[in-house]
Amino acid sequence: MSLEERYRQLIDHALRARERAYAPYSGFRVGCALLDLTGTIHYGCNVENAAYGPTNCAERTALFRAVADGVAPGQFAALAVVGDTPQPITPCGVCRQVMAELCPPDMPVIMANVRGQFAVATVSELLPGAFRL
Ligand code: THU
Repeated sequence: MSLEERYRQLIDHALRARERAYAPYSGFRVGCALLDLTGTIHYGCNVENAAYGPTNCAERTALFRAVADGVAPGQFAALAVVGDTPQPITPCGVCRQVMAELCPPDMPVIMANVRGQFAVATVSELLPGAFRL
């Protein structure tokens, strides 16, 4: 399977995760599929809240869920995220900071829209100079 086919497969998983989005306030549904180094896929969707602030993006839902399910930080291979945007979606700054903490710097982040367009960038390209303690 080509790299593009593998990317498209992960995007398909993110599209399925998107169906579970809870986005009654923005109406903007996002799905994420996160591949770990063992080949397991972890799913995330955005989960909104009436107080707005507690809203969790699809990417962080998948990342936090995977860590809670026992994946060690650093043990991720790729992340796909999809939303209904004119251009491929781009992750927010908070999610970029979380990716920088939990994922390898050279891990590909596949950013897609529902029309099948996608772009790929590494975690460190998305957040150069990430804050670290
Ligand atoms: N959102 C995500 O889940 N991921 C992104 O990359 C961008 C934004 C969510 C947060 C909120 O529920 C809605 O999209 C609108 O900002």
